[in-house]
Parts: sequence; C-alpha cells; structure tokens
Amino acid sequence: MNIAVAQSGGPTCAINASLVGVFRQALKTPEIDAVFGSINGIEGMINDDLIDLKLVIRSNEDMELLRQTPSTVLGSCRYKLPPQEDNAEVYEKILRCLEKHRIEAFFYIGGNDSMDTVVKLSAYLIGRGSKVRVVGIPKTIDNDLPVTDHTPGFGSAAKYVAATVQEIIRDSSVYSIESVTIVEIMGRHAGWLTASTCVLRANEEIAPHLIYLPERKFSVEQFVEDVRAMQAKYKAVIVAVSEGVEIPEENCRSGVVDNFGHEYLSGVGKALENIVRREIGCKVRSIELNVMQRCSSHICSKTDIDEAEEIGSRAVLAALDGETGKTMVFRRLSDIPYVVTIESVPASQVANKEKFFPSQWINAQGNDVTEAAFRYFLPLIQGEVNIAMRNGMPLHFKLK
Ligand code: F6P
Repeated sequence: MNIAVAQSGGPTCAINASLVGVFRQALKTPEIDAVFGSINGIEGMINDDLIDLKLVIRSNEDMELLRQTPSTVLGSCRYKLPPQEDNAEVYEKILRCLEKHRIEAFFYIGGNDSMDTVVKLSAYLIGRGSKVRVVGIPKTIDNDLPVTDHTPGFGSAAKYVAATVQEIIRDSSVYSIESVTIVEIMGRHAGWLTASTCVLRANEEIAPHLIYLPERKFSVEQFVEDVRAMQAKYKAVIVAVSEGVEIPEENCRSGVVDNFGHEYLSGVGKALENIVRREIGCKVRSIELNVMQRCSSHICSKTDIDEAEEIGSRAVLAALDGETGKTMVFRRLSDIPYVVTIESVPASQVANKEKFFPSQWINAQGNDVTEAAFRYFLPLIQGEVNIAMRNGMPLHFKLK
C-alpha cells in the first residue's frame, strides 16, 4: 500500500517533526511502499499535486534536519472542505487522486479546522465503500484543541516566547525612568501561549507583571489601574497580552477574515501602548512577537519535537490497525514526573472546537495565572535540541 501526508493551518516548528514521524514509521513498515507528500494541505489531493517523499527525504541526516526545520515543508492551506452535498466534485477529485496513487491511508497534520477535513473526508470515503483510512495528527501553537492535553508545536512556541520575554525584561530594565513594555502574543481566541509566560517564575523572574487573556473580559479602566499599581512596585512594568483580547473602544481589529472565517488578529499591543501613553504618560513600547513565535526553532523544546514525531508515528500504527476518522491525542498521567500517553479519539470531538484556557487558572483580578497553570506548562518546554549549524546559522531542510 501507499500512504499520503499533508500539513495544514498555521505553521509551527514541530509540524515537520510529525511528518518525519509518519515517514520514519512508514520506512519501518514493510507493507507500506510509497509515502506521498500532498502540497499545500488538502489542496494537493484535490489538484493531484503530490511528491514522492522517498525521493526528497533520502537519508537519516535529511530526517534529522527536517525535524529541526520550522514551518511546513509541504506548504499549508486554510481551505475548508465544503459539505458533500454542496460540492461532490471536490470529493470525487480527492478519491481519484487516492485511487490513482494507490493511497490507502491519508494523514492530516493540522489544528481544529483541519480535523474538520478528517471528519468530512473519512465519512465520504466510508460512504463510497473505500477502505482508505484518514487520521488526524494535531498541531498548533494555540494549544486550543479539545481532548488532547496539549498540541505539538505549543511547547516550542511557549519556550521561545518565555525566553524572548526574559530578554525583553533585561532590555527594558536598563534606564532609571519608569517604563511599560507590552508584549503581544499569538493564540487567536485562547490565551494558552500568553499564559505560558508564567514559566519564567521557575527561574525567579517576577515579570511579566500583568498577563491578559481573551478568556476574561478586558476593562481599559482596570488595566490602567493595574499598571499604576505595578508601577508602585516596579520601575519597568512588563505586560503580556494575548492577540485575542478584545478592546472595542480602541477599534484595533483588521476586519479581514480567512477561509474559515477567522479574523486576522494583530494590534492589541499597540492599542495598549496608546492607552498607557494617553492615560499614564510614561515611556511605553509594544512588541508584537508575530510569526517568530511559531517559526523560531533555534530554541525549540526537545519534549515538543520528540512528542511531535512520536504522535506522527503512532498515527500510522492507528491507520494500520484500521482506524479512520480519528485524531491522535495526548493524555497526561502526571506532571512530576511528566508522563503522557498517546491515544486516538473520533476526530469529530476535536474538529471546529476550541479549548480555552481554564477559568480556574486565572487569578481573581483577571491579570495573572495560578500555580496550577505553571505546573501544567513547565514540562512542555523541557529539553533542548542539538540544532545543526553551518556558517554560524541553523541549517534548514529545503525541498529541492
Ligand atoms: O494557527 C494558529 C495561528 O498561528 C494563530 O495563533 C494566529 O492567530 C493565526 O494562526 C494566524 O493566521 P495566518 O497564518 O493565516 O496569518
């Protein structure tokens, strides 16, 4: 049999490790012959745009390099499969592509929107009497997938964000004057990544002094009060704010949406900067970490990269066991020592749903997180990958 794999949604620096997991497991499985990579997610299956991965990933060194390469080597998409009734032709095209290449299992590495594709495609194939199995492999820096304890890509993003915030803390503390530095962090509607900056406390860092998440209603008045209260204690106040925090009064939304109807978020940090300048008048700067937080692999988490590969490999085993319409998930058994297991669940439990940062892990004032959150995050950022370098720079795997 042949298999195919695709990557979808926003990049992470662990999504290629999951691809390596699928590929390496396929190499170890005698009944699997070709491994196809679908270019630009499901679009590659619709347009019959596939590459034979064995021709491009040619050695163990290639696999190691791909594991440390951020983003999606096969490209990505934000394409939503239409309901079958509305556009049967799209499904027919995918079926023709699967049949043409004798593909009997398809692996989709993606987030909650991509799991919608797993649900729809597996249902269609069952309806057509096809024995092709479809299995989802989770990923997203947003960590907002239900059921799974966490998502591949998140731990590395959290490690980069925390390390960067720590450097910002050092930089912002040099002058004798009062200052406020605001760091805007990705995560769409869920505050996981912003909340994870609390891991700095493991190394006796007090900042970020204030953490604002989209799970709590934001009040401009309360924010100004919070900043003033922190300024009474600290000369350089550091604020972590999630891109998803809504401040209707400041009109900081782009209004532009993607194919899944998600708005492009950016600008809340700037809005808070303007508020501080206007209401407090001290030195203030806002920093938007932007895509760096999902593609900075030079400080990725070894735990994250290893788990991303493992969950990819386990997806192949699930498909070989005849599973379809499933998403692979992590279940955490303990924080210390950190122990997780990998299981599969119906993809419908994950598709199109968001898991928000738990309310009980936010403090009463809505401007910080609790000790329980800290215990949850800390294991996910552990370990360093020995990044291969050339000419003083990290080496990346590139498709020739
Ligand atoms: O995939 C998650 C994510 O990185 C979010 O954190 C962010 O809001 C969004 O994607 C950005 O989307 P795009 O890559 O389409 O700009």
